[in-house]
Amino acid sequence: MSKDKFLWGSATAAYQCEGAWDEDGKGPSIWDDYCHSTANLTGITGDVSCDHYHHFKEDIKMMAEGNQNTYRFSISWSRILPKDDHVVNEAGFRFYDELIDECEKYGIVPNVTLVHYDLPDYIGTWTNPKVSDEFAYYASVVFKHFGNRIPLYTTINEPNHNAYCNYCVGNYPPNETNLQHYCECAYNMILCTAKAVKEFRKLNLNSLIGIVQGCGPAVSLKDDPEYLEAVKYCDYFCNDWVLDPAIKGILEDELIEAVKAKGIDLSFVDPNFKDIIKNNTIDFLGQNIYSRMLVKPNTSGITSFTVNNAGNNDGTNNSARETRAIKDWFEFDRDENTQLNKWGREIYPKCGYITLTKRKERYGNIPIYITENGHGCYDIADENGYVEDDERIEFLNNYLQWILKAKEDGVNVQGYYVWSTMDLYSWINGYKKRYGLVRVDYEDGNLKRTPKKSYYWYKEFIKKYQNI
Ligand code: BG6
Repeated sequence: MSKDKFLWGSATAAYQCEGAWDEDGKGPSIWDDYCHSTANLTGITGDVSCDHYHHFKEDIKMMAEGNQNTYRFSISWSRILPKDDHVVNEAGFRFYDELIDECEKYGIVPNVTLVHYDLPDYIGTWTNPKVSDEFAYYASVVFKHFGNRIPLYTTINEPNHNAYCNYCVGNYPPNETNLQHYCECAYNMILCTAKAVKEFRKLNLNSLIGIVQGCGPAVSLKDDPEYLEAVKYCDYFCNDWVLDPAIKGILEDELIEAVKAKGIDLSFVDPNFKDIIKNNTIDFLGQNIYSRMLVKPNTSGITSFTVNNAGNNDGTNNSARETRAIKDWFEFDRDENTQLNKWGREIYPKCGYITLTKRKERYGNIPIYITENGHGCYDIADENGYVEDDERIEFLNNYLQWILKAKEDGVNVQGYYVWSTMDLYSWINGYKKRYGLVRVDYEDGNLKRTPKKSYYWYKEFIKKYQNI
């Protein structure tokens, strides 16, 4: 299977779509534990979701019929290593082997993420000092098993967003608001990637390895020195700690000093840290594109983070929008000319262009795959389950125009994935916030799939742009 042509596909993640949460020897992940606990106030879980575990053949066939030539999915670590004894669950591998067989049957290139939020429960949290060695072990087991059958591997999905939800907003397990733990988590995630890359290089595979970044670079409406300072600090917080070590093998001293000045105790840092990151950098960047990080100087004097998991914004309501602020560093700004989605997040197609060109500015010609781009909304289906999701089509089309322009202007864009292949569990946003190109009827005993209007639109779009 060739990863040399432009890849057009869509993406999912294990916990969000597989279901079969305790089948065939799978161990529990932290998301199983959280969803089954009293902390989960809605009681909604990914136990079954769209049951991709039993429907993958149908799902992949539909991708192929939609002209897609690549599938981004993640492996559930706790299917492969269910307990803390390093014993492999062969049935876990069997599932992914069959999934990849199916991809190969249609010439669909697998792009596989090793962990997409769902740590095994025996690891517990990202602050566990053992996590990077355990992750390296898991990664090596996966690389040895699949080898070149997986042309594109990525280590962690959205380290920044994962750490942010776990330890700033606290809406993902372990549900804390603790900047010290945010930094410990960040540090461990950096090490996880570096140590996994080290294992990967030992095998001399033809495959490539990358990381998936969740947000774009920070930007501001003004370029006064104070605004640019806010941009710099937001990038420290969201981007630089993920991408500088992974791509350049460094973490700038200025960033480390800024973190120390915030009162973070960095005594957990290994003296060999700089060498580990220096020697183990990635081959490509997976970049998710949703919205801008629009910032201004922090005038509120407070540190606070809010998300809107209620999905109740009318498109303009500033009090129901996502916000972020770190005292003395930056806070989110609002551009009144742009629309917000129902979850209070800005819709701003040009961020595709800005993100990609700024990545090139900082990281040169590194190959970039847009590993996620999508629009969450409340879909309405007709009596046959068909959804006329013009809103999603408009979103994708507008974003894609800017992404293609960045490619034309010289950014090394190699592929693009719509989030998501079909409807799935949207973490704390549950099942009502839908992203799929294919509708899943959760009321139907067989979880009936019906391609939406956007699926057919994307099929034609790919046909038109397949040889770019
Ligand atoms: C991305 C994640 O950040 O956003 C996905 O990688 C997630 O796992 C997607 O589902 C949409 O998230 P949300 O918060 O809108 O449900």
